[in-house]
Parts: sequence; structure tokens; C-alpha cells
Amino acid sequence: MSEQQSQPSNMNTSGATVNGHSNGSNGNGVQAVSQASPQPINPFAPRYAQIVGWGYHVPEKVITNFDLEKIVDTQDEWIRTRTGIEERHVVASPSETSATLGIQAAKAALEVADIHPSKVDLIICATSSPEHIVPSTASIIQDGLGATNAGAFDLSAACSGFVYALSMARGHILAGDAEYVLVIGAETLSRIVDWTDRATCVLFGDGAGAVLVAASDVPGGITASVLGSDGSGADLLTVPAGGSAMPSSLETVSSGGHYIKMDGTAVFRFATRVMAEATRQVLGKAGLRVEDVDLVIPHQANVRIIQNSVLKQLKIPEEKVFVNLQKYGNTSTASIPIALCEAIEAGKIHPGNNLVFVGFGAGLTWGACSIKWSVPVAKPNETWWRNTARQATYQAAAARSMWKRAIRRVYSQFPAESRWGGRKEENELS
Ligand code: COA
Repeated sequence: MSEQQSQPSNMNTSGATVNGHSNGSNGNGVQAVSQASPQPINPFAPRYAQIVGWGYHVPEKVITNFDLEKIVDTQDEWIRTRTGIEERHVVASPSETSATLGIQAAKAALEVADIHPSKVDLIICATSSPEHIVPSTASIIQDGLGATNAGAFDLSAACSGFVYALSMARGHILAGDAEYVLVIGAETLSRIVDWTDRATCVLFGDGAGAVLVAASDVPGGITASVLGSDGSGADLLTVPAGGSAMPSSLETVSSGGHYIKMDGTAVFRFATRVMAEATRQVLGKAGLRVEDVDLVIPHQANVRIIQNSVLKQLKIPEEKVFVNLQKYGNTSTASIPIALCEAIEAGKIHPGNNLVFVGFGAGLTWGACSIKWSVPVAKPNETWWRNTARQATYQAAAARSMWKRAIRRVYSQFPAESRWGGRKEENELS
């Protein structure tokens, strides 16, 4: 099991606070308004959306290219030279799901930020392999974290989802609607991949990455975003069945309609074009030139896409582009946050750096965010009492969830408007 646990941010040195709110301070000096007693936002105070926590989690089980040679007609050499991928992590048991991976990544991000889950206002889970069509994976993560003051929703923009979600988090924070937003990319793509289709099964992997975005008065953070879509390419990368257009049936199951279908060459062409364009556009919006970029963290799908777009078209040197897809394959929405964590671990990100996150995916969709990294990445003094409080909350969250389910089962025996089935009792649950 691999989990990003170190490199906490410590905003004390930069003195970040949230627009004059004093209740609910974390160890990073970022102060958030408490949900219990919300304070009015000062519309004239400067407000920025800073990434203050980050974490990832991947399943233990690894499938190498050589393992795949035993499953489908493929070769390690073909996969490495055409994609750059050498191995990928996949879930091994039914107890590992997109939500459980997302919960682990989110816990790691909260630990880095040293923030209690009750401070989180909103959880956005970008995912291409949600637990269910309904309810959202984000709500399951919210319950697992004990983030009792958070709203939660899933965001569906395929592999561009993390960049989309980051843009939503920024908007929500700049509008004054949230102080802390958890943005998670979580995937168990191995469950929707056709393990007999060599054109797709070699590409994808499972994992989750998360960042905590906080309101701050320190200039920088997520400074600009660009989002795009071209639905005329919807059929180029799709899981055709299981939605309202093609409901599940014996036929959809027997024809493999619930697996990923892809026109790889068309997606490759599209990706190469939009990665460069989106990067240029977001830099333009942020008032930066290509030369100002310190590190690009692209969606980790295929090293040739990255070479043909970011390196060749934008002429960004290799050392300014972070690539880790050889270890994880394409983890869709999780690829950029996992790469961010590893870039931090590798010492490639420092306060003052200009970063670009750029992604593309089914839809077709694409997106880019420009980030002025403003948070120290050095480990702060340990705040054991906050850590203890978080761990206790996680334990309590599981018990609370079980208790609420049990109580609901009891109430469900009574008519909804009766003394025992009515609203009063439901309210008592929360
Ligand atoms: N192992 C061995 N051979 C394979 C193979 C595999 N896993 N998959 C395909 N091939 C074969 C093809 O059948 C084809 O054989 P043929 O020439 O006899 O017909 C040959 O390799 C070339 O296939 P082609 O599809 O032209 O390869 P490519 O260089 O375009 O690479 C992809 C294929 C899928 C790696 C590449 O198109 C790609 O990465 N596309 C983007 C996919 C992507 O990123 N999707 C996610 C978006 S978020």
C-alpha cells in the first residue's frame, strides 16, 4: 500500500488567513469560518484559492506488462514503446472501491493540511468509474470521512474531471461559498475495462488522488482555468451501456456494452492538439508566457501524447514536465493529483513556482489550470492533538453511519407520517 503522507504544507510562514474570519484555524495558519456560526464574507477583501493539502492512494496489487502478456496477445515492448506504461495498480478485492481509494487519498490530503474533516464545506469527486449511477461517490466519501458539514457531488468529465473539479473548487471559494473544498479524483477502471481487449486493457490503472483547496488572502493559488468540450466525439471513448440511453439488459452484458470502448488513434490526435492549445490558453489568462512555466503536470495517458503536445508543440523542456505514467498507467481523474503528490515528493515544486495542470478525456473534454504555488512544502511541527482528533472522527464516522442506517431501518417499519416515521425522528438523526 502506498500513501502520500509527508510534505505537509505550513502556511504559517506565509501568514495566510481567510478574509478576517477567526474561528476554526488550522495548523497551517489558514483560518476558516465555522459552519456552526457562519460569518458574512467581506466582498472587498482579497481572496485566493490555495492548494494546502494533497495525498494519494493506490491499491497494493500491481500488474506488469509481462503479466498482461499472459492475459492478452500483447508484448511488454509494444506497450512500453507505444504508451510508456510499464505497470499499473489494480484493486484486488471487492472491499476496495473508488470511494475507499478516494477516502484514503482525502485523509492524506487532510493530514498534510492539518485540517479536521468537519471544516470541509464541499467535496467534489471527479470519477469515470463511480460506485453507482446514483448516489454520488462523493457522498459515500463524505460519510466515510465524517465530513458532516460538507456538501458532496460527483463530477463527470472523464479524464479531464480533476481539472474541471479544481476549477469548480476555485469558483466556489472565490465566490465566498466555501472555505475548504476537497477535490478528489478516484478510479477503479479495472472494473470497467474489458480484459480481453488488448487495445484498452493495457492502458488503464486504479488509484485516487486528492487536494484540499482553501480560501486564503495570500496571492496566488489557482489563478486561471480553461475548460472545453466537443460532444461530437462522444462515441470515440465511451462505456455505452448502463445509462438511460442503453439501460442494462442481458444483451448489453453479453455484448460487452458495460466496458470501455475507444478509438485510440482518434483520441490520440485530439489529445495531442488540445493539450497544447489548452496550456497556451490558460497561460494567456494567467498573464504568463510558456517560458514562465516551472512545471507542467499533464494527464498521464500516453508518454507520446505528452511528447508530441507539451514538449514538441510548446517547446517546454523535458525536465519541466512531470511524468509517472510508467508506474500507474492511465488512472483517469486520479492521474494529475497522484502526479502532483509525486512531484512534491521528488522536490520538483517550490513556493513561487508556476504550474500548469492540463488534461483531456472522453466527452470529448479538455481543461487546464494555472497554479502559482504559494504554500511551503516542508513538514511542519507535528500537531498530534489534531491528528488524534481526525483519527477519532474517522472511527466515529463509521459507527455513526452504521447507527443511522440501523435507526432508519427501525423507522421504516412505521408509516412516514406516524409518530415513529415522521420528520421529527428523521431530524433527530442528524
Ligand atoms: N499489444 C500489441 N499490439 C497492439 C496492442 C497491444 N496492446 N494494441 C493494439 N495493437 C496493435 C493493433 O492491433 C495494430 O495492429 P495492426 O497494425 O496489425 O492492425 C497495431 O498494434 C497498431 O495499432 P494502433 O492503434 O495504430 O497503435 P497506436 O500507435 O495508435 O497506439 C494507442 C495505440 C491506444 C496506444 C494510442 O492510439 C493511444 O494512446 N491513443 C490514446 C488513448 C488514450 O489516451 N485514451 C485515454 C484518453 S483519456
